[in-house]
Amino acid sequence: MSVRRLPAEQPRVVLGVGGGIAAYKACELLRRLTESGHRVRVVPTDAALRFVGAATFEALSGQPVHTGVFSDVYEVPHVRIGQDAELVVVAPATADLMARLAHGRADDLLTATLLTARCPVLLAPAMHTEMWEHPATVDNAALLRSRGVVVLEPASGRLTGTDTGAGRMPEAAEIAGIATLLLERADALPRDLEGRHVLVSAGGTREPVDPVRFLGNRSSGKQGFALASLAVQRGARVTLVSGHTTGVAAPAGVRMVVVSTAEQLRAAMHSHAVDADVVVMAAAVADFRPNTVATSKIKKGADEPDTIALTRNADVLAELVEARRNGELSADQVIVGFAAETGDERGDVLHHARAKLARKGCDLLVVNAVGDGKAFEVDSNDGWLLASDGTELVLDHGSKALLASRVLDVVADLLPAAH
Ligand code: CTP
Repeated sequence: MSVRRLPAEQPRVVLGVGGGIAAYKACELLRRLTESGHRVRVVPTDAALRFVGAATFEALSGQPVHTGVFSDVYEVPHVRIGQDAELVVVAPATADLMARLAHGRADDLLTATLLTARCPVLLAPAMHTEMWEHPATVDNAALLRSRGVVVLEPASGRLTGTDTGAGRMPEAAEIAGIATLLLERADALPRDLEGRHVLVSAGGTREPVDPVRFLGNRSSGKQGFALASLAVQRGARVTLVSGHTTGVAAPAGVRMVVVSTAEQLRAAMHSHAVDADVVVMAAAVADFRPNTVATSKIKKGADEPDTIALTRNADVLAELVEARRNGELSADQVIVGFAAETGDERGDVLHHARAKLARKGCDLLVVNAVGDGKAFEVDSNDGWLLASDGTELVLDHGSKALLASRVLDVVADLLPAAH
């Protein structure tokens, strides 16, 4: 077959595919990886090819697909593919594949590749809950993690047949985001939040005007969802209080609490902050709501209003800081705020951000400059991380996952040692 040649500088990603029903989702992951410019070599197991044909992987990757070590032997593929890789992603990683990898077996091309790879290795487990919770799999996951392999927490939800529970493969978009992050920063996912409860708010609130209309904002939820996703993958128990979002799916392993208005978000944050070690207010909370909500649709004509009178909403971030000061929340809790700023005649973005950090009293403030298509609804971000001790860190331009990982590094350092 003829193979499409891709420029040499593109990262070489190996996509290993295990023999589980979730193998069909590997096609979507492959498409996302190639569309974002990665050169991908697919290495399925024999069992994976019972779920998805080699032709599909070859067509989507433009590369040959083999499962055994005796194809194209002159190229020594069982050594070369792993040696050349900049990242190996295995999705789905079945219980059997994890066991073979943990024990150093090399009985097919994928396990041989995994033994020769010296780059980051990312496993996206997918299996039935009983298999995921079996002590053998638990031990294998711990052993692999202790060797530096990133073993993702699976999602909970519908499994094959009528079963539900933990063991679903994370969505392809989430795996692709984490894969890209590992190419940007190989050390982005340490298990340094184990035993911690991280509470994140994300998305925008909607303040109803009448049964049809609302006051809302442009927050997509992407940055908050990236933070929640990475906190799970760094070992935390995560509660994600989500307002309205666009283009994001629930991250694997989070407890989702869906809200709509600022008042609902406020109530959810106060109730879940009680035992949180970390609170991240990434949500765009409406500062105002209409004084009254019409019970029927407001019509044009004689009764149409000239103005909508507004009431100020509570500042949830400031309230949580106050609750901590009053001793209602743990003094060790780390509280992170976000600020989307534009400069004006009174000062630049950082001037306003420093004033906001002092006003809100949180420990960290993530600052994004907005306007000109930046920050909102896009996949990349940059800015500054201001700390209450005066430290200021530049957050270089990169994926929202990269920014989230840098913020979590600083959060993890601020947490008191786990007992
Ligand atoms: N925030 C909040 N409750 C609100 C408004 C904002 O908790 N009612 C939080 C946001 O989640 C964010 C931080 O406060 O973490 C800063 O949001 P921003 O809208 O920039 O702050 P404001 O206080 O509304 O500042 P400004 O006067 O610039 O609008």
